[in-house]
Amino acid sequence: MEILKVENVTKKFGGFVAVNNVSFTVNRGETVAIIGPNGAGKTTLVNVITKKLEPDEGRVFFDGFEITRLPPHKITKLGLVRTFQVVNLFPTLTVRENMALAGLSAGATGEVRRVIEMLGLEEYTDRVVAKVPLGVQKLVELGTSLLLKPKMLILDEPVAGLGAEDRLNMVKVLSELKKSLNLIIIEHDMDVVFALVDRIIVMDKGRIIADGRPEDIRENKLVKEIYLGGE
Ligand SMILES: Nc1ncnc2c1ncn2[C@@H]1O[C@H](COP(=O)(O)OP(=O)(O)OP(=O)(O)O)[C@@H](O)[C@H]1O
Ligand SMILES: [Mg+2]
Repeated sequence: MEILKVENVTKKFGGFVAVNNVSFTVNRGETVAIIGPNGAGKTTLVNVITKKLEPDEGRVFFDGFEITRLPPHKITKLGLVRTFQVVNLFPTLTVRENMALAGLSAGATGEVRRVIEMLGLEEYTDRVVAKVPLGVQKLVELGTSLLLKPKMLILDEPVAGLGAEDRLNMVKVLSELKKSLNLIIIEHDMDVVFALVDRIIVMDKGRIIADGRPEDIRENKLVKEIYLGGE
């Protein structure tokens, strides 16, 4: 049973085709990674799915609804939520204030404390976001996304810039989350990808060049050449 369906989506910037006729579906309960070299079109694809950008062609369906022409806030309301490659928080507000604002906008103020505890953020609640470590900021951003009650969460490079310990912690958190919601993870760290997902979609130059189980993708010749390189 599918929850997300992307049909022939194309996004151009001037004459440059950043996402080129991309189609895929994600089934309920499936955890999927989108990988590919820098500039492959991964973030642009997510921007089009969540309507930060308008697609030039194609259609997107989520949870039984066509969302191609819906504004972003309506898409969020349907339960499709994304995080950003660069942390997207109010830097001068505290961790608690950022979470409270997200809770307020989602009508989930009662959930704020539970999410803070689940993410192990108690000791940081009264600290200003700009002054906490990146690992904490990434968890706060995840928390603000969770308060929007997603059915599907798309994470754009959840461990980018993090040290080994913070990476492990994020993997632990995401391993728990994937039991109760659909995750799509864009990530360059292949250890994180292989630890978490059931399926890997590989993009290169705006197109999907492979889509399959992690063990098959690991052995795919084209993928090895283009992305996994010497690994
Ligand atoms: N707003 C924009 N205007 C013009 N070109 C853009 C815009 N956004 C992205 N691009 C170009 O589209 C291509 C795909 O970019 P995108 O950010 O989607 O790649 P990515 O796969 O997410 O890469 P990375 O792994 O580095 O995050 C790149 O060549 C990028 O320069
Ligand atoms: Mg990107």
